[in-house]
Amino acid sequence: QNSDSRTLLKMYEETAKLYNHILLKTENGSHALKYLNQRDIDDGLISTFSLGYAPNNSDLLLQFFKDRSISENILRKSGLFAENQEGELFDRFRDRVMVPITDEAGNIVAFSGRILDKNASTAKYMNSPETEIFSKSKVLFNLSNAKKSIRDNQNVILFEGFMDVLSAYKSGVTNGVASMGTSLTDQQLYTLSRLTNQINICYDGDDPGVEATYRALTQLNDERFTYGVISVPDQKDPDEYIRSEGSEKFSGLVKNGVQTPISFILNYFRRHYNLNNEHDQLEFLNQSLQEIVKLSSPVEIDMYVGRVADEMNVSKDSINKELDALRRSNA
Ligand code: CTP
Ligand code: MN
Ligand code: MN
Ligand code: MN
Ligand code: MN
Repeated sequence: QNSDSRTLLKMYEETAKLYNHILLKTENGSHALKYLNQRDIDDGLISTFSLGYAPNNSDLLLQFFKDRSISENILRKSGLFAENQEGELFDRFRDRVMVPITDEAGNIVAFSGRILDKNASTAKYMNSPETEIFSKSKVLFNLSNAKKSIRDNQNVILFEGFMDVLSAYKSGVTNGVASMGTSLTDQQLYTLSRLTNQINICYDGDDPGVEATYRALTQLNDERFTYGVISVPDQKDPDEYIRSEGSEKFSGLVKNGVQTPISFILNYFRRHYNLNNEHDQLEFLNQSLQEIVKLSSPVEIDMYVGRVADEMNVSKDSINKELDALRRSNA
């Protein structure tokens, strides 16, 4: 680590402390604290995740670091400031709840800031830009906290959003991480591979989340891992589910509701096609067979052949014949 990086790490740590102080101890932060409490984010979570509030002020942080004689050059490198048309710096994060992002060792290297106001015209979450200490393709949110739990549970849960990780953590599901809005990179997979060989995807239960799960399953073919899917009912995201159904129902889902990829994919196809329509029925059968043919375990194959046969109201025997034909044409 060069001395600039060390300075940047120190700045992120001090910034997180400042924002946390403003959230908890100042009048300026009271509406943000109220917002978090309304989301059932209590003092324990605020402290575990060092949450904070960046007030609606364009030079609070700037003055803070100028008072500490941080050079203009470092201020620019830090990613904590943006630049106006005149080239002057101003605080990048304003009027946002601040979620610190840590590296694997637990050093704060970036922030994600969430707006409080539903109707605001700006993006719901704003992330720090890439800097000397932050590369979003390397970092996984909450990995430093979750490491031990990932090892103990022998699996990692991949969530879509930071708030899902927080809510899960509060309900005792502490092996969750989230990527910074991208699909898992090789670097992140490598990092995870040193901790576990099971990745359970628990994305939002809404349509975009289901689509993203399907995409992830078709893209993730890293053979170091086996994959599972935890589907959240009622179109909810994990955080919404936990808040409406409670921690125990969610941890039950995590314990007993892990689907195999093939099971998720067959459900996904079934939702996608109208099985009252013959064209769709055959399409469903074709797509399902393409997936079943990739399986190697005879028991698994038999199970899913049975499921598709039931669904289409045809015999297992005829499905097996189709499967044989597909194997011959693939060979
Ligand atoms: N995201 C983002 N910018 C947006 C919307 C989403 O960066 N305008 C990213 C965030 O990392 C977010 C994730 O995509 O956590 C999932 O999006 P979404 O499900 O819409 O947000 P939630 O995590 O559910 O956020 P919240 O519960 O705070 O509304
Ligand atoms: Mn979503
Ligand atoms: Mn969500
Ligand atoms: Mn949410
Ligand atoms: Mn078609």
